[in-house]
Amino acid sequence: MKILAIETSCDDTGIAILDAKKRGKKSHCLHMMANVIQSQPIHTNYGGVFPMMAKREHGKNIVPVFEKALRDAELFTPSASGHSPFAEREGLKLKSKILKILERENNLGEVFLEHIVKIKKPKIDAIAVTVGPGLEPALWVGISFAKALSLAWDLPLLPVNHMEGHILSILMTDEGKIPEIQFPALSLLVSGGHTELVLIKDFGKYKIIGQTRDDAAGEAFDKVARMLALPYPGGPEISKLANAQRRNIVTGSLAQAGETSREIFQQKNIRADGNNMQSGELKISLPRPMIHSGDFDFSFSGLKTAVLYLIRDLEKEHSDILKNVRMSQAIACEVEDSIVEVLTHKTIKAIEKHKIQTLIVGGGVSANTHLQKTLREKVKKTNPDTTVYFPTKKLSTDNGLMIAIAGYFNALKKPIKKSRSLSSLKANGNLGF
Ligand code: KG4
Ligand code: ZN
Repeated sequence: MKILAIETSCDDTGIAILDAKKRGKKSHCLHMMANVIQSQPIHTNYGGVFPMMAKREHGKNIVPVFEKALRDAELFTPSASGHSPFAEREGLKLKSKILKILERENNLGEVFLEHIVKIKKPKIDAIAVTVGPGLEPALWVGISFAKALSLAWDLPLLPVNHMEGHILSILMTDEGKIPEIQFPALSLLVSGGHTELVLIKDFGKYKIIGQTRDDAAGEAFDKVARMLALPYPGGPEISKLANAQRRNIVTGSLAQAGETSREIFQQKNIRADGNNMQSGELKISLPRPMIHSGDFDFSFSGLKTAVLYLIRDLEKEHSDILKNVRMSQAIACEVEDSIVEVLTHKTIKAIEKHKIQTLIVGGGVSANTHLQKTLREKVKKTNPDTTVYFPTKKLSTDNGLMIAIAGYFNALKKPIKKSRSLSSLKANGNLGF
């Protein structure tokens, strides 16, 4: 089954083509034919994503991304002239239906029609598309594009939950071998909009056992980054500074292996002074919110506020602290330690309570190397029989391939309905499991 998948839930326009086959009862073969992602640099200086800006950028990017995906998959064949799907009288009706579907997306309808007549319909069996959760104006671009394509090429649509996509993204590995999942499995989903622990009874059977009560982990990284005058997305920026801080500490022989930045600050009583950190005054210590709450919920908004106050206090004594690289590194490291410690602690408790043998981490924050290292080490120590899977770097953040994989597994469960009414397919910003 060849699936073309479309992802536009936030600020990445992703289109992928997957060739998937079932081999035997439980085994599958997944072949990535294309996975094109176009991010939106426009958000860099705003510290976050504005939905209407994201929608406009998706509208501009989606046709070039679509064409590149077809070319990468070697499925792009120019159509012979006179053979467009709109050549006959019936085609005129089709054309006006497509224009209607795309009428809210600026000139995307005209651009789509102009483009689609130049391409011969490729051998694709279905179109998967993210329907939520996410930013509704952004989701609608992908959904309307998918509907238009489904009409033009007469193909069925597969609606996909973005978070299920993040869970199943681990099934595509660099080695090509599909990881074995032992059910019940557990997923830690950490992205810009979500922080959840999900119990997985089987493919398609998900139950949230804990989630954030306010900000998501990725959002906390992004907000702290903004306070430190770093560009969006903030996670990778904080991670770079935090890793530099750990290297500083090691090369400065301040650290014993395994110490967190907080322990080091407390022991060595480090202070910030000009461009150097010296012993004497400053203790950086941020909270580990809800770490001992006894449930699987999270809360990261207090951490963000604590950083705000910390910066304010530091500014009273030191001018230009944000220009002080060593100071930013120290703050970033403590923030990362806090988020990673809380995520790791709760995940291990959930593994123990539900006797989990397979842990799947997904979402943009799963790209964080400190989280990967800490979680793997702690699980190995406490629950050596549990296998931990992270997605490959390219599949950690939003992409079309994970939507194609989720679409494939959904299609195996329910036979694809070609007759699905297009009007029933809607964006749902708060879609749950
Ligand atoms: O899954 P994703 O691409 O989009 C959503 O569905 O939200 O996740 C984006 C989030 C952003 O908050 C970004 O800062 C964070 O993932 N992120 C990271 C890293 N890479 C991306 N957070 C921490 N460390 C990283 N290396
Ligand atoms: Zn995501």
